[in-house]
Order: sequence, then C-alpha cells, then structure tokens
Amino acid sequence: MNRRPTAILISGRGSNLAALLAAAADPSYPARIALVLSNRPDAAGLDRARTAGVPAAVVDHRTFRGDRAAFEAAVNERLDAAGVEIVALAGFLRVLTEGFVARWQDRLVNIHPSLLPAFKGLDTHARALAAGVKIHGCTVHLVRAGVDEGPILAQAAVPVLDEDTEATLAARVLEQEHRIYPPALAALAAGRVRIAGGRAIVTGAAAPAGALANPLPAPAAPPTPSTG
Ligand code: GAR
Repeated sequence: MNRRPTAILISGRGSNLAALLAAAADPSYPARIALVLSNRPDAAGLDRARTAGVPAAVVDHRTFRGDRAAFEAAVNERLDAAGVEIVALAGFLRVLTEGFVARWQDRLVNIHPSLLPAFKGLDTHARALAAGVKIHGCTVHLVRAGVDEGPILAQAAVPVLDEDTEATLAARVLEQEHRIYPPALAALAAGRVRIAGGRAIVTGAAAPAGALANPLPAPAAPPTPSTG
C-alpha cells in the first residue's frame, strides 16, 4: 500500500502525536509518519517520536527573531527533505502565515480543543466553562488562513458537568481528541475527503446513531401505588 509520508508538528506534550504514532504503527494505516517536527527543543513529544523510531527535528522559532517567513522556510526545508505530503498539527502553537497555509492547501490538518466555530483561539476549556455551555468537545479540520478556520473533518462532543474544573474538562476532551484524530488523518491520507462549498465530505465512515444531550431529561417518576 502507498502510505502517504506525513509530518506531525508539535510544540509540547505530544499526546495527540502518541495517538497518531500508535495508529500509524499498523502497516495498513494510510499515513506513514515520516517526521516529527517541534518549534521547541524541550517538547516532550520529541522523546515519544524517538522512542517510536521516527525521525525528530527541531526548528526553534526563537532563533528567527520574529521573522515568520524565515521560520516557515526552514520548516518547509525539513518537510521537503523528508518527502512529506501531508502535515498534521498536533498542539503546534505557532500561527502559520497565509503563504505556508496556501502551499499545503488541503494537505494541512489541525486538531483544536473545542467544537468549532465556537471557542477559537486559546484557553478553550476555561472559556467553555465561563460561557456555561453544557456540551463541549474537539474538532479536526483542514487549515485555512484564518486562525482555527477551515473545513471540518471530524468532531467529538462531551458533556460539561456542574463540578467540572478546567482540568477535568480538558481531560475529557483530550480522550476524544485521541479518538478522532487518527481516523480523520487516515481519511485524508486515503483520499476519502472531498471539499464541496467549504464543507468537507468524508466518505467511508459511519455516522453514529443517537444523540448526546446534557442534562438528560429527568427520569419519569415511578407510578404511585393506587390505594384502590
Ligand atoms: C491539544 O489539546 C490540542 O487540541 C491543543 O493543544 C493540545 C496539545 O496536546 N491544540 C490547540 O490548542 C491548537 N489551537 P498534546 O501535545 O498532548 O497533543
């Protein structure tokens, strides 16, 4: 099978990277992780890549002193040298220029910890709690020039519970990130994504039955015994 050479771009912990590496360890997975690239030399995810035997590179944005075009040129050089065809952002916390996004049009995918288009940007879990939403979640999407914009490939929703803190909510969402990112990247790599009118149509995947509601309607009260 022709597995598409894919780069994962990270800035830190790399738990989504770990989920993607685990999926790609299966030889039938349609993406092959050809490179893990971090903009921070201390990103924990770099060790995950090395442990998995995947080439890891650092392009430290600080050495470019704010010259984003030069930073991205250095990133592109690494991507090209590794023969990369698809770029997956996994907690990569640099905003990319229009030029970079255009170069990787429809081959650049991101995961964001909210149900887009709600809560673009940072601190999504704190903002979801402050807004009082009852359902929150995560989104995998193709990247466009606007921050956290682009055709949506997959979303997962979780309930927001009354006792949630930012940490408990983040953990519930993160579990779903690890669940939806590998199949979304697989769909892209396998050519099962078509863009129509700004929407992504993903074929070859099943839609779930049922719906998530939070809170659930109160259970019906038990019938009161009749006294005859
Ligand atoms: C993830 O929650 C990801 O959705 C988020 O950063 C975290 C990285 O965790 N990304 C963004 O906020 C991008 N706007 P990880 O390094 O453990 O995968």
